[in-house]
Amino acid sequence: MNAHVLANVATTIAMKQTPAGLDGLIAGETAISTLDHGLHYRGYALEDLVRNATYTEVAYLLLRGELPTTEALADFRAILAEAAEVPAAVVQLLQELPLHIAPIDALRTAISALAHFDEQANETDDTANLGKAIRLLGQVPVLIAARHRLTRGEELAGSDPELSFAGNFLSMLTGQIPTARDERALEQSLICYADLEFNASTFTARIVASTGSDLHSAITAGVGALKGPLHGGANEDVLDLLLSVESASQAEKFVRDAIAKKRRLAGFGHRIYRDRTDPRAVVLKDICSDLATTDEQRRLEEIADAIEAAMWSHKQLRPNVDWPTARLYRMLGLDAELFTPLFAAARVAGWSAHVLEQQRDNRLITPRAKYVGPPPRALLPLRER
Ligand code: ACO
Repeated sequence: MNAHVLANVATTIAMKQTPAGLDGLIAGETAISTLDHGLHYRGYALEDLVRNATYTEVAYLLLRGELPTTEALADFRAILAEAAEVPAAVVQLLQELPLHIAPIDALRTAISALAHFDEQANETDDTANLGKAIRLLGQVPVLIAARHRLTRGEELAGSDPELSFAGNFLSMLTGQIPTARDERALEQSLICYADLEFNASTFTARIVASTGSDLHSAITAGVGALKGPLHGGANEDVLDLLLSVESASQAEKFVRDAIAKKRRLAGFGHRIYRDRTDPRAVVLKDICSDLATTDEQRRLEEIADAIEAAMWSHKQLRPNVDWPTARLYRMLGLDAELFTPLFAAARVAGWSAHVLEQQRDNRLITPRAKYVGPPPRALLPLRER
């Protein structure tokens, strides 16, 4: 038997065993991140990166494989700053999209539109992909902030290359220079959101890349996958959930009733982090505790703790990354509809790194399906049906 026949036999065997949702299936190789032993980006522990690195350094690490030197970082920041110029036609498009659409949908459309203004849009070699990835990294916060301010009838706040990625992002959103504390908190959350192995949106981006399609198409598809409530869309639902519980003493009953109704609570459960807590949730919970200084913020932290305890006792489910980020972003004064776009902005680094990796050593991703439909049958002419 030749290698392809053998591979097909292996596939047939695997088909019988493949669990729903590809749960636990190793679908390929990556050198970018791993969930083994916590979460590591290119070998560095998430906790170390959150403590000691900036988001820009982490984006560089994901894209290029190593942390930057001072000189390389300065160059990278300069390219990012240059990329923050978004074509006027795309800003115009953001202004003209219907007001009722969610910011994450506007972002998906705008990323797709950006491709039409990128001279390398359809080039898929490594150099072109890297250039486009860095441009997108710089442009996505501009798109999110522009749509946010335009829908409020506010003047656009210009990008400031002197600020950090997170500081600039916050200042473009709010029109004000953020405090160092807020800037750092956003930065740390973006580091947590930057990559996660073969999660649904990254795998989507890799599938698109595997067809030989372009980076903008892959990232657009990634945003489409991310916005679902089982994935990145959960961080927006978390806030609604939290605010619907009036006090910590009501948390237990709230969770009991929800579980009895088989309701899924956003911010809990994870496909991989089942027997340990999502390390991002651990890191971000501490950051939330530090940020919570007003009575109202502390009250929300207490409610969150009580819901966590009840979810554990009723369903043995642990919080995931979206559980604390919703509180963190609220403490930064950001609207809930921005939460998933913030996630997407951070994940551009991870998605792009995976597109680069996929296209460096590509084989088309096309699995088989186990057919469960009707057996072969005769087709009756229309008049006889
Ligand atoms: N609330 C209540 N019950 C839950 C939850 C939840 N958040 N998550 C899982 N369960 C229950 C399921 O109902 C099921 O219960 P059952 O066995 O009694 O029927 C059991 O736990 C297993 O659930 P699965 O769907 O098989 O778990 P899976 O690994 O497929 O799902 C997922 C993972 C989708 C993240 C799930 O936990 C969920 O829906 N969470 C809420 C949405 C969320 O927070 N998503 C963000 C995930 S992190 C990220 O993408 C950034």
